[in-house]
Amino acid sequence: MKRPIAELWGTGRYTPKRVMTNDEFSKILDTSDQWIRERTGIRERRVAGPDESNACMAKAAAEQVLQDTGITPLDLDALVVATCSPDRLLPSQACDLQALIGAKHAAAFDVQAACTGFLYALNVAEGLVASEQAEHVLVVASEKLTSIMDWSDRTTAVLFGDGAGATLVRKSTDGRGMLSSYMRSDGTLAELLYRPGGGAAHPPSEELLKDHSYYIHMAGREVFKAAVLSMADACDKALERAGLSAGDIDLLIPHQANIRIIEATAKHAGVPMDKVYVNVDRYGNTSAASVAIALDEAVRCGRLKPGMKVMFCAFGAGFTWASLVVQW
Ligand code: COA
Repeated sequence: MKRPIAELWGTGRYTPKRVMTNDEFSKILDTSDQWIRERTGIRERRVAGPDESNACMAKAAAEQVLQDTGITPLDLDALVVATCSPDRLLPSQACDLQALIGAKHAAAFDVQAACTGFLYALNVAEGLVASEQAEHVLVVASEKLTSIMDWSDRTTAVLFGDGAGATLVRKSTDGRGMLSSYMRSDGTLAELLYRPGGGAAHPPSEELLKDHSYYIHMAGREVFKAAVLSMADACDKALERAGLSAGDIDLLIPHQANIRIIEATAKHAGVPMDKVYVNVDRYGNTSAASVAIALDEAVRCGRLKPGMKVMFCAFGAGFTWASLVVQW
């Protein structure tokens, strides 16, 4: 099928009010602002409060998209939420969001591809538009990771943050939209980054809470290596499939996990850092929401303008990775 089939129309985001600095972590963990900044590029992150559920953040981001586009909730045919930290395990986060915004005519479901979730969800949305199952697909990425991270583990706690971002996918107009996309995963690497307990194999128990297996576990150094390789592969494939070279890309919006991974990705892809959108310093890693939040910021601050070509790439637990080139 000839691309572009679908375009991204309108953006939105929500980031929690509470800002937590590295210095605050150094008061509760054996860490320092200097260590965190040098190894990750993170200075601060947002931490959602009790009144900022995954659904509330998703709703706030979604409402901005509806405002941007003039689409009403009743016009939505599908609602796809990318998340790995839903408010509850059943039903989906998307169904709870659907009820909150009153998208009565939509099909609603979640996509779980961890930090790659937003890009996977955009691919699913493109498929729904291509098959004419849906005219308007709202794609929301929302995470409350601080509720599933181990606050006593310095190797993971300092990395993550909360927030949500969103966009709408519809049929391409005037040649705008997704020029190429690529999705991959490797389930043999699952245990590099995972939550061992809490699912059907190890249901909630006192034991599980005591041994911290309810929380995110990560082999940081191995994840770093896999991330650099998969982000490089993602950029190569998205460019190749679009028939473009790095010089054609006006803006690269990578998953915001670590500034060193972002720099390695940009270097491999041949995109100079002044064409790379970075906000990991302010939000840390917000998993699926990371690219979606960065996209909304880039649009609202004028870094991403109509006519530009933007490349997105992300990696995450699974292992999963993906990329997209979009004519904005
Ligand atoms: N503060 C201070 N010291 C810390 C620390 C922290 N927050 N976290 C780990 N350390 C220590 C380690 O315990 C280790 O100490 P040791 O040498 O005495 O054993 C030392 O720092 C080096 O640890 P290492 O894991 O080798 O550091 P690193 O340079 O690889 O950086 C990460 C660690 C986690 C920042 C890095 O590996 C990374 O970013 N990995 C990818 C993570 C990621 O992106 N996850 C999300 C995927 S979507």
